[in-house]
Parts: sequence; C-alpha cells; structure tokens
Amino acid sequence: MANYNKSRAVFYILFIILGFLILLSVSCSKREEILTEPEEITLSNENDSSSCLVCHIEETPGIVASYGRGEHIKNDVGCLDCHEVHEDDPTGIDHNGFEITAIPSPNYCMECHPTEVAEYSNSKHAWTAFMGQYKPYYKEAVAQGLDPLSQETAKLLDPDEMAKTLLSPLIADSGILQTIGFLDDPDYNHANVTSGCGTCHGTFVIVEDDGTITGMPNAGAGRVNADGSLGSCSSCHTRHEYSIAEARKPETCGQCHLGPDHPQMEIYEESKHGNLYGAMGEEWNWDSHEWGADDIGAPTCATCHMSAFGDAVETTHNAGDRLYWELQPKISVPQWKGPDEVDLILERIPDPVAAEAGRAKMMAVCTECHSTSWAEGHFTQLDKVVADYNKVWEYADNLLTEAYEKGLADPENPIDEPAEIYHYYIWHHSGRRWRMGASMMGPDYTHWNGAVDTIMKNLGFMISDLELREAILKK
Ligand code: HEC
Ligand code: HEC
Ligand code: HEC
Ligand code: HEC
Ligand code: HEC
Ligand code: HEC
Ligand code: HEC
Ligand code: HEC
Repeated sequence: MANYNKSRAVFYILFIILGFLILLSVSCSKREEILTEPEEITLSNENDSSSCLVCHIEETPGIVASYGRGEHIKNDVGCLDCHEVHEDDPTGIDHNGFEITAIPSPNYCMECHPTEVAEYSNSKHAWTAFMGQYKPYYKEAVAQGLDPLSQETAKLLDPDEMAKTLLSPLIADSGILQTIGFLDDPDYNHANVTSGCGTCHGTFVIVEDDGTITGMPNAGAGRVNADGSLGSCSSCHTRHEYSIAEARKPETCGQCHLGPDHPQMEIYEESKHGNLYGAMGEEWNWDSHEWGADDIGAPTCATCHMSAFGDAVETTHNAGDRLYWELQPKISVPQWKGPDEVDLILERIPDPVAAEAGRAKMMAVCTECHSTSWAEGHFTQLDKVVADYNKVWEYADNLLTEAYEKGLADPENPIDEPAEIYHYYIWHHSGRRWRMGASMMGPDYTHWNGAVDTIMKNLGFMISDLELREAILKK
C-alpha cells in the first residue's frame, strides 16, 4: 500500500514536471513568434545587405527585429533591395560606402510587386494629397502649364504655404482664421495642415537645394515622393514587417478612417461584423494566402474593400474598386472615373457602368456568407438612404443660395457665418455619417449621428439663424 502511494507520488511529481516543461516550451515558442533573436536575423552569404545588418542590429534594433518577423528576410530580400537609391530619385545619400535612400517609394517595390504598385497608383488613395490639402497647388501648377509632381514646381510654388493661406471650405478653419486676422499672420504656423491633413493624405517630400529633406517623416496614403511616384506602402504595411495580417485588420484603416467626418471605424465597431471581430477576432486566421469564409467569422474593412475572398473576388490595391457611390461629396453620385481615364483632381465624371461593376464585386463578397436576397435587401435600403440625404442636401444648398441673394449672408468669406458653417457640417460631417452609417450597418450613425444631426441640428439651426436675420433686416 505504502509502495503504491510512493509510486503514485512519483508519478504525480513527474506529471507536474512534464506539465511545466510543456508550458515552458509553449511560452518559448510564443516568445520566438514575438521576439526573433538577433542572431537568427541573417541573410545568405552572397547578400550585400549582410553588412547593413551588422551595424543596424546595434543602431536600430527595432527596425531589424520587425524585418526579422516578416516575409522578406525569409526570401533573402535584403535592405539594399529596397534602399539602394534609384537614379531618378534625389533623396540619395552616401551611407558608409553605399548609395541609399531613407524613403523607398512605391517605385522601389515595383520590380517585385508590379500589380500592387500599378493598382495602387490608379487609386484615390494615391492621389489623395492632391485631392486634399494640395488641391490649390495642383490647380495652380496645371494652370501655369507646369508638372505638379515635379520637385522644381514644388520648390517654385510651395504647396504647403499655398494650403496654409487658402481661404476656402477645403481648409475648414480658414474662414474664422481670416476673421480674427490669423490667416496671413506670419506668427501663426497653421501646423495642423502638415500634422493633420498631411499625416492622413500625405505630404510633399521635397529635397531642398542644400540636400535637406522636408515633408518627412510621413506615411500618408497619397504622399508625393521626390521621384514623382505617389503614396507610401507603409500606410497599411508598416515597415519593416510588411505584414498582410496588419493590413487585413480594421485598426490599420481606422488610423485615418475615423472621426466626425468619416467615422468608418466607429461604424464598423458598432456593426454586427465589428462586434464579431471584437469578440472572436483573436481566433481567426490572419495569415492565410487563400483567405476565405472558413478563415474568419465576419468581414473586416479589407475583406469587403480589398482582399481576395474565397472564389468571389481577386485582391485589389484600388480601394474604390468595389464601390457604387461617392458618398463623401456634397451630392452623392456614382463613382467617378479614375486617374487612368481623367485628371481626377480637376474632372469629376460619374461612371455608372464602373459603379455597377463595383456593386457586383461587393455583392460577391457578401454572398460568400449571406444569401443573395439578404445582401440585395441591404443595398436597396442603402440606396434609399442615399436618395433621402440627396433630397435634404438640395434643400439646404438652395437655402444658402437664397440667403446670398437676399443679403442674409455674404459669400465673400465662404466659411465664416452660421449659415455657411451649418451648410458645411451638413454635407461634410453629419450627412456623411448618415450615408456611411447605412453603407456599413451602423444604425446609430445612420440615425442619431446622421439623419437627426443633419435635419434637426444643422438644418434646423441654419433655418432659424436665417429667419432671425430676415426678421431683423425687415425691422
Ligand atoms: C557602419 C555602420 C553602418 C552600416 C554598415 C550601415 N548603417 Fe545605416 N545607419 C547607421 C547609423 C549609425 C545610422 C543613424 C542611426 C540614428 O540616427 O540613430 C544609420 C541610419 C540609416 C538610415 C536612416 C538614414 C536617415 O537619413 O534617416 C537608413 C535608411 C540606413 N541606415 C540604411 C542602411 C542600409 C540599407 C545599409 C546597408 C547598405 C546600412 N544602413 C549600413 C550605421 C550603419
Ligand atoms: C521591403 C523593403 C524594405 C526592406 C527590405 C528594408 N527596408 Fe528600410 N525602409 C523601407 C521603407 C519603405 C521605409 C520608409 C519609407 C516610408 O515610410 O515609406 C524604410 C525606412 C527605413 C529606415 C528609416 C526609418 C526610421 O524609422 O527611422 C531605416 C533606418 C531603415 N529603413 C533601415 C533598414 C535596414 C537596416 C534594413 C535591412 C535590415 C531595411 N531597412 C530593409 C523599406 C525597406
Ligand atoms: C527584390 C524583390 C522585392 C522587393 C524590392 C520588395 N519585395 Fe515584398 N516580397 C518579396 C517576396 C519574394 C515576398 C514573399 C513572397 C510573396 O508573397 O510574393 C514579398 C512579400 C511581400 C508582402 C506580403 C508579406 C506576407 O506576409 O505575405 C508584402 C506586403 C510586401 N512584400 C510588400 C513590399 C513593399 C511595400 C515593398 C517596397 C517598399 C516590397 N515589398 C519590396 C519581394 C520583394
Ligand atoms: C484623420 C485623417 C484625416 C485628416 C486629418 C484629414 N483627412 Fe481628409 N479625408 C480622410 C479620409 C479617410 C477621407 C475619405 C472620406 C471618404 O471617402 O469617406 C478624406 C476625404 C477628404 C476629401 C474628399 C476627397 C474626395 O475624393 O472628394 C478632401 C477634399 C479632404 N479629405 C481634405 C482634407 C484636408 C484639406 C484636410 C486638412 C485641413 C484633411 N482632409 C484632413 C482623412 C483625413
Ligand atoms: C460588410 C462589408 C464592409 C465592411 C466590413 C466595411 N465596409 Fe466600407 N463600405 C461597404 C459598402 C457596402 C460601402 C458602400 C458601397 C457603395 O458605394 O455602394 C462602403 C463604403 C465605404 C467607403 C466609401 C465612402 C465614400 O466616401 O464613398 C469608405 C471610405 C469605406 N467604406 C471604408 C471602410 C473602412 C475603413 C472600414 C473598416 C473600418 C470598412 N469600410 C468596413 C462595405 C464594407
Ligand atoms: C490601403 C491599405 C494598403 C496599402 C496602402 C497597401 N496595401 Fe498591400 N495589401 C493590403 C491588404 C488589405 C492586403 C491583403 C490582401 C488580401 O487579403 O488578399 C495587401 C497585400 C499585399 C501583398 C501580398 C499580396 C498577396 O496576394 O499575398 C503585397 C505584395 C502588397 N500588399 C504590396 C503592397 C505595395 C507594394 C504597396 C504600395 C504600392 C501596398 N501593398 C500598399 C492593403 C494595402
Ligand atoms: C494613411 C491614411 C489611410 C489609411 C491607413 C487608409 N486610408 Fe482609405 N482613404 C484615406 C484617404 C485620405 C481617402 C480619401 C481619398 C480621396 O481623396 O478621395 C481614403 C479613401 C478610401 C476609400 C474610398 C475610395 C474611393 O475610391 O472612393 C476606401 C474604400 C478606403 N479608403 C478604404 C480603406 C481601407 C479598407 C483601408 C485599410 C486596409 C484604408 N482605406 C486605409 C486614407 C487612408
Ligand atoms: C465572412 C462572412 C461575412 C461576410 C463576407 C459578410 N457578412 Fe454580414 N454578417 C456575417 C455574420 C456572421 C453576421 C451575423 C449573422 C447573424 O446575426 O445571424 C452578419 C450580419 C449582417 C447583417 C445584420 C446586421 C445586424 O445588425 O444584425 C447585415 C445587414 C449584413 N451582415 C450585411 C452584409 C453585407 C451587405 C455584406 C457585404 C457587403 C456582408 N454582410 C458580408 C458575416 C458576413
């Protein structure tokens, strides 16, 4: 009996030790996934970038560690494959005997990823700095017959300075800045144009004559690079891991797609899809190259807008490819023709044929998980919401035109009086929330933050402000 107890005790001890060892090995392999040991980060002997690694393991261990976790090192793609400066790129520096750039543009990825680069270049993401804060610069350059993408034009016209002193709803705070005398005040920096607009839309990277580089650091979606290419692939695949898992997760897009005027992230979070992502997402398969409905329980931003998904759609680096509507402008219209067909900054031509094709692709994603009638039901509802918004917008827009005609508002400064400010909030903030909430299953954004804020608050206050002015004027 005693013997039996003893052997049982030994058995238990062995069992505990074994359990401990298993736990230890699991936690070690977890650790390896997170922290690749420096000595494991090596390239083949023939790879010229081995000497970069020797220094950079000491100098920038964070960069080397993230490089060590990615796919490039596994395929012997070294630092120089991306950093060896191209002839047409003025950002080159002499660095320990190597001619390198610190800002590899999408052109540096082109040789190995031509499809992704071509699709991206043809997307609104790529052109968005020019559609955003650099629009006045772009227009002026074209008017003068100059190439808006060239370094010479940028040095001549100074795109940042033009954005900062522009009086227009494009720079929403410019109206009041003009009223209080700050718009042209040399002591007011307008630094939010670079740190705000530029961080999402992208900056202009300019190599000054003395070699200093302005416009960096930046990873904005439409960064204008010194070699004339557009965008930064790092806006979704942060250097140096270049992870598809990162790009597939909603937080990556939510870095820019949030806030009062384009709350796609908040809408997603309140949708059933986002709710499932929050509750179950940790268990989903984020790295699979053949991504499909068996890998995830609900779609993310990338699933609907960009990823290859089952047999339904191919990957696209043009995020507009599956849309029907343009929901960000004042009046919603079918998707505009893209930069391969028109000068997107100056020409806005709706393309219903391409928009229908976009809708069909989006539907193909939905029907990997839903029935056709479920998906169709959603889009029928969405199109009705868009029609309602458009009707309210036309009413509000006419109201402002009449106010100008009746002398109740002064068009000279277009964004300083209450009627103009409410008019702006209607299309730019609450009206976008209304339409985008309905696009992506966010009921609170459709109703309270959308329709109610548009009609009851912004339109309501606009009407009462104008009525009050009219009454005062009559007295
Ligand atoms: C002799 C050591 C050494 C070697 C070899 C070396 N680097 Fe560096 N590198 C540095 C140091 C030091 C810095 C500055 C780090 C800092 O500012 O904290 C740096 C900075 C950089 C930067 C940023 C430059 C900037 O202006 O922002 C890049 C990009 C870079 N290295 C890439 C490379 C590449 C690619 C190679 C291989 C071709 C390489 N380095 C080889 C030591 C080295
Ligand atoms: C797959 C392409 C690629 C590879 C491989 C690569 N880099 Fe980079 N690296 C980039 C890009 C792109 C940027 C930043 C430009 C941007 O924001 O778009 C960058 C930026 C940097 C910077 C400046 C960024 C900072 O945060 O200071 C350093 C330093 C650097 N790389 C070093 C290295 C070293 C060392 C290696 C090799 C161990 C390496 N890179 C490998 C693409 C690459
Ligand atoms: C010399 C060739 C080469 C260059 C240059 C290069 N890559 Fe890659 N890249 C590869 C290879 C090889 C793979 C792994 C196989 C594959 O997925 O195609 C890869 C994979 C990737 C992946 C997918 C990673 C994954 O988890 O599957 C991304 C994202 C990526 N690269 C982005 C970039 C970006 C952005 C640049 C430019 C800054 C760049 N690459 C430059 C060769 C290159
Ligand atoms: C937090 C990131 C962020 C900041 C800051 C930001 N934007 Fe945007 N902007 C976006 C996103 C995202 C969209 C896309 C909205 C959509 O399509 O739903 C957008 C859309 C736009 C559009 C519409 C483009 C079109 O195709 O019609 C313009 C114009 C614009 N922004 C200008 C600006 C300007 C100018 C600033 C600074 C004064 C600025 N934005 C600041 C993220 C940002
Ligand atoms: C279930 C699929 C789905 C998910 C998930 C999803 N979207 Fe959408 N998104 C749509 C649909 C559908 C539309 C409207 C399509 C149309 O125009 O017909 C849309 C519209 C948009 C628009 C265009 C608005 C405009 O200005 O025209 C943007 C930007 C956008 N989504 C970004 C995002 C971001 C960022 C996320 C994640 C935080 C996301 N989407 C998640 C399906 C989705
Ligand atoms: C707006 C976000 C975004 C930007 C910016 C972006 N990507 Fe991607 N990329 C993605 C997503 C999402 C995926 C995953 C696609 C999938 O799930 O099928 C991806 C996947 C990839 C892959 C792997 C392709 C495959 O089928 O496995 C490569 C290579 C790649 N991107 C290269 C680039 C290059 C080069 C750039 C810059 C020109 C770039 N990406 C910019 C979102 C982005
Ligand atoms: C660095 C900021 C940034 C990131 C990250 C980003 N976007 Fe965008 N996105 C923008 C801006 C700015 C625009 C407005 C483009 C324009 O001028 O119309 C935009 C526009 C869009 C549009 C409308 C495109 C069209 O043709 O109408 C979609 C859809 C979209 N983004 C989806 C995504 C998805 C999905 C992701 C993540 C995989 C993502 N974005 C990541 C900044 C970003
Ligand atoms: C990866 C699978 C997947 C994809 C792709 C997908 N959905 Fe869903 N969706 C779900 C799941 C799971 C639910 C929750 C179903 C339930 O409640 O029974 C859901 C719920 C919904 C709901 C109900 C929302 C609520 O509040 O109950 C709507 C509407 C919807 N999806 C529309 C769409 C549309 C439209 C698309 C394409 C643009 C789409 N879904 C793409 C998985 C998906």
